[in-house]
Amino acid sequence: MTFDTLLFAIENNTAIITINRPDKLNALNKNVFDDLDKAVDAVNENPEIHSALITGAGSKAFVAGADITEFGSLSIVEARQLSERGQQVFFKIENSPKPFVAAVNGFALGGGCELAMSCHFRLCSDNAKFGQPEVNLGLIPGYGGTQRLTQLIGKGKSMELQMTAQMIDAQEALRLGLVNYVTPSDDLLTRTKEILAVINSKAPLAVAKIIECINHAVTNNNYSGFEKEVEAFGFTFGTEDMLEGTQAFLEKRKASFKGK
Ligand code: COA
Repeated sequence: MTFDTLLFAIENNTAIITINRPDKLNALNKNVFDDLDKAVDAVNENPEIHSALITGAGSKAFVAGADITEFGSLSIVEARQLSERGQQVFFKIENSPKPFVAAVNGFALGGGCELAMSCHFRLCSDNAKFGQPEVNLGLIPGYGGTQRLTQLIGKGKSMELQMTAQMIDAQEALRLGLVNYVTPSDDLLTRTKEILAVINSKAPLAVAKIIECINHAVTNNNYSGFEKEVEAFGFTFGTEDMLEGTQAFLEKRKASFKGK
């Protein structure tokens, strides 16, 4: 199975999916979403595959966010569509009957943190950094970050991290429950595969039901918060601050916001 932006391999009944744009720190553009969508289908349709591991190419980043170069020209409606598309692919991961585990090997920012959070659980390397820095761009998370970070680490800390755009390191992510384990970089994939090998030996239909019931425990099948996020993400694309924030990132300077 080949993809433009992903590497896809099968090892011991686990699909190893590697986001492969290391020169752009594996930023999520439209093609990555299309490929991820197909890769999740490939996992779910192949009886040889019992589980999946998602990681990023290179040693620096898991995924450094949505591709900011695609933001500048979007209308409010197009921004909502982008948010809906990202949410749709991440729902597909979250609701997959087969376990998806993120092996976070560096920066997991914005859409990268959101991708990791859509997986069923996470491990990270000791150089990993997590954050939702969208507010620096005059935006908010659009791929479920306002909802899943709150589910995983609680309201107060989620508020603080999203309002300040502060990045947290691997040990803080462990303390907050964002990741289950921190490993040395060289051991990350091995440790993640070991855990998946244990899960692969269990009854697949029971594992699928565990995923379904735990997801239900968290959402109670109420996704209105995700819909609110789509609307709010779109709203920010109608602001001058969003244009300033994204422009400032691309020009490698600090943004100056006016509240307009
Ligand atoms: N979208 C598009 N391109 C991105 C990107 C993103 N989210 N994150 C990094 N890149 C690109 C950079 O523009 C740069 O490209 P260039 O070499 O053509 O200039 C390349 O990836 C390397 O990134 P760089 O910023 O030079 O690396 P760094 O080590 O100085 O900083 C980060 C690393 C992660 C702190 C920094 O890249 C960053 O802040 N990225 C954006 C994070 C973000 O706001 N994500 C949320 C988006 S909604």
